[in-house]
Amino acid sequence: MRVVLGITGGIAAYKAAEVARSLMERGVAVQAVMTAGAQEFVRPLTFAALTGRKVITDMFGSGGADETLASSVEHIRVAQENDLLLVAPATADVLAKFAHGLADDFLSTLYLAFTGPVAIAPAMNTNMWRHPATQANLEILRKRGHVIVDPGDGLLACGTSGPGRLAEPEAIVAVVDQMLHPRRDLEGETILITAGPTQEPLDPVRYVSNRSSGKMGFSLAEAAAARGAQVVLVSGPVHLEDPVGVSVERVRTAREMYDAVMAHLPESTIIVKSAAVADYYRADLPKQKVKKTATLLSLELQPTPDILAEAGRRKGDRLLVGFAAETENLLEEARRKMTTKNCDMVVANLVSQAGIGFETDENEVTLVLRSGEAIPLKRASKRHIADQIFDQIAKLRLAAHASR
Ligand code: C5P
Repeated sequence: MRVVLGITGGIAAYKAAEVARSLMERGVAVQAVMTAGAQEFVRPLTFAALTGRKVITDMFGSGGADETLASSVEHIRVAQENDLLLVAPATADVLAKFAHGLADDFLSTLYLAFTGPVAIAPAMNTNMWRHPATQANLEILRKRGHVIVDPGDGLLACGTSGPGRLAEPEAIVAVVDQMLHPRRDLEGETILITAGPTQEPLDPVRYVSNRSSGKMGFSLAEAAAARGAQVVLVSGPVHLEDPVGVSVERVRTAREMYDAVMAHLPESTIIVKSAAVADYYRADLPKQKVKKTATLLSLELQPTPDILAEAGRRKGDRLLVGFAAETENLLEEARRKMTTKNCDMVVANLVSQAGIGFETDENEVTLVLRSGEAIPLKRASKRHIADQIFDQIAKLRLAAHASR
């Protein structure tokens, strides 16, 4: 396998060296292409030494190439010879160029000539990442079918903190590996996934809910579909677009989620309940908005149906995975849920830590199995965590088939 590694101008360019090294270790041949900006941060020699190949540094044949027809069509040759184009780190500038088809240097010209799969790992200042122009460009690239390895959250070189830090090299390499050798280990499975919070109305204009963003559940759906599963995603109210190739059903309350899950349960072979379902709802809903008074207001709330526990009762030989978001006693709580809800695996995460859990792009979880075994997964993007959860699910499925 051959990969073009495009490196653009950002402080994270040094991390691309680790990506190159790790790809080489997996037997992937790497052709590094550096933009002028990238060379301000790292010297081409670093990549030449790591990859054992001359680094392509510009369009018109300086940096050693002679001025022949061969060098002027080098982008076409490189495009034809390689199986995948990876850009890490990708600046806001290269995202804009790719999105709009500008071709004013080797990398952007190569991009237009390249017909294979493209992976892009952006890294930039938080405000640049959040800018509507950058987000619109990312949207164009996602719709084009390119895989975006989302940046992590944390302290950035510019001194600010927030999303924009290049994803960890090992997460980037895992994505590339999956793209080069697509796993279809979930083919034949019908997977029901729940995501997001639920909203429980208090009157016609108010509700109670929680901070779940739905990102974990949507990443799970995306990962399962990529590995060949039929996926039904039942989601509470979130601001996320439907993942490609997934059938999405949007609900609002715990009761609606319960109904949707029970309707899809018969055809499902695997159920993953990542939703943060409200535990209480108001049964005696007033028809009109509750008026403000100077006195105390007390509300009587009833417990919502426990969807996971009911799925556990109707489980049959389905594989059932629950989530436990806790602020203390993580593993004990996870093990308790495993038994009370009849799960095969519980994904446990501490939601009291900054940067992981609710509303973030990263997570750090422990997979607790029925055997009692606890498998900690390192902090990583939710998409990468999703793949690791399915690695474990695929193993449990294999074991279940083997013992039948
Ligand atoms: O008991 P607890 O809410 O902490 O358990 C969390 C797990 O149970 C999650 O998988 C969540 O989706 C599921 N759950 C549910 N229905 C509820 C409450 C939680 O399915 N009413």
